[in-house]
Amino acid sequence: MKIFRAFRVEETRQAGKTSRVGRFVSMDETMLDAGDVLIRVICAAVSHRDALAATGQAASVRRLPCVVGTDLAGIVVSSAAPRFRPGDQVIATSHELGVSHHGGYAEYALVPGGWVLPLPAGLSLEEAMAIGSPGLAAALAITRMEAGGLKPENGPVMVTGATGGVGSLAVDMLAGRGYEVAALTRKAGREDWLKSIGAASVLPFAPEPVRHALDKGRWAGVVDVLGGDVLSGLLASTKPNGMVASIGMLSGTVLNTTLMPFVLRGVSILGIDSVYAGFSVREKVWERLSGDLKPRHLQRISQKVGFDALPDVFEKLIAALACGRTVVQIAPAGDTEDSP
Ligand SMILES: NC(=O)c1ccc[n+]([C@@H]2O[C@H](COP(=O)([O-])OP(=O)(O)OC[C@H]3O[C@@H](n4cnc5c(N)ncnc54)[C@H](OP(=O)(O)O)[C@@H]3O)[C@@H](O)[C@H]2O)c1
Repeated sequence: MKIFRAFRVEETRQAGKTSRVGRFVSMDETMLDAGDVLIRVICAAVSHRDALAATGQAASVRRLPCVVGTDLAGIVVSSAAPRFRPGDQVIATSHELGVSHHGGYAEYALVPGGWVLPLPAGLSLEEAMAIGSPGLAAALAITRMEAGGLKPENGPVMVTGATGGVGSLAVDMLAGRGYEVAALTRKAGREDWLKSIGAASVLPFAPEPVRHALDKGRWAGVVDVLGGDVLSGLLASTKPNGMVASIGMLSGTVLNTTLMPFVLRGVSILGIDSVYAGFSVREKVWERLSGDLKPRHLQRISQKVGFDALPDVFEKLIAALACGRTVVQIAPAGDTEDSP
């Protein structure tokens, strides 16, 4: 039985105290979770959430030990699901990966068939991981905002957390569709980078209490990952019939607002959940991500690192020094060994 490498978060006890640590370990096939599709993982990706989980700082991992990594891409080794054959290139994002089912930071993954999609034509495995769950969320937001009437001629669209995964991919996709994008960021030195991926203007993040229930309407649309008072302020400054997509809550889970933006301006707030989005929704949105919504600056937005570099990447993400997306090469793409 072949032994393979994984990065796993585990519980340890020292001096009577329990804590979580992440480390590289050796695993074999019998240690994988139940699933229908055995995948030779070629690459994965790292988000802020993965970094917190991998360093034991997030309670989001519900089963220990657990291989971390919410997104993975690779080649089918064997499949009990008739949709897949050995050699197929596939992706799996979110669901329970890295939460209560072993995730992407291992050379092999055994995954329920319903979580697996064929690699969309027009994307490489690496590009699919540069997009990953954050890109799926950004694309879901754009799809739903446009279904609600958002068009480039309605006015500018604000993107918060703009240098992050969701933010940078949303900036790129929106600009590619002809929107004037305003990017909100805490990183003063990243203005040029944000403009190079499509932002028309860059605004500094300056949290302040919301003063008015309604301000001057500035945004035709908003893609927000921050929540809290930032989202309250953006709702108050959204134009009549504007669309606000709520994707994350990095700066607060409580929304302090009034009904005025909704009742007096017809503003809509759309909750975006890419984690449990249904199979057919994912399939359609991934098709668009490899077509009309494909980000034009993926090479600028993403960087690739080797498996060994994971601990350094976690540190950078937690210290908020990272920009865009980080793709992790788990196995060399040319590696044809296909059975654990
Ligand atoms: N709903 C869904 O389906 C879905 C899918 C994927 C991700 N998410 C969530 O969306 C959020 C963003 O994900 P991501 O992958 O883009 O994360 P990320 O790559 O870590 O980026 C988040 C960005 O937000 C800004 N930021 C982070 N913490 C902040 C804080 N406390 N206050 C203000 N700004 C802060 C930073 O950008 P600047 O430095 O440019 O300001 C950071 O780069 C996370 O909460 C994630 O869990 C939700």
